[in-house]
Amino acid sequence: MKNKNTLTLALFSVTIGASAFFFGTSVSKASNIDGMKLYLQHCKTCHGVDGNPTDLGEGLGARKFADAEWQAKTSDERIIEQINEGTPEMMMPFKEKLTPEEVKALVPVVRGFKK
Ligand code: HEC
Repeated sequence: MKNKNTLTLALFSVTIGASAFFFGTSVSKASNIDGMKLYLQHCKTCHGVDGNPTDLGEGLGARKFADAEWQAKTSDERIIEQINEGTPEMMMPFKEKLTPEEVKALVPVVRGFKK
């Protein structure tokens, strides 16, 4: 009987430990969004894998993200606003598709294309 109690206690501790482990990983995942993955998923059809617009993007009027002058005059807020709101008939808004954290995570990706 005593042994059985010990086993129950041991199983209980393992369960608690496992939940803490899973909870821990899901929390760290939420604050560690892969911006490049989101970019490749949602943006590359128009803006290209390297920030150079595809034929589709260019046809719609997208610029090169490598353009240092554009990078310098464009604020992070402007990039966030563009992703959230889009431009009618040119780029769709993403505020319904992406969380504010995901939109924020895309800013360094766009910045990273600067030459
Ligand atoms: C359907 C094609 C398309 C997709 C998909 C798309 N864009 Fe755009 N994007 C455009 C076009 C076209 C413009 C130019 C719009 C303009 O000049 O107002 C643009 C402009 C921008 C700009 C520049 C805004 C400025 O102030 O000059 C940024 C930054 C941007 N897009 C980021 C993104 C990100 C990040 C994604 C993915 C979440 C994305 N875009 C998805 C077509 C697209």
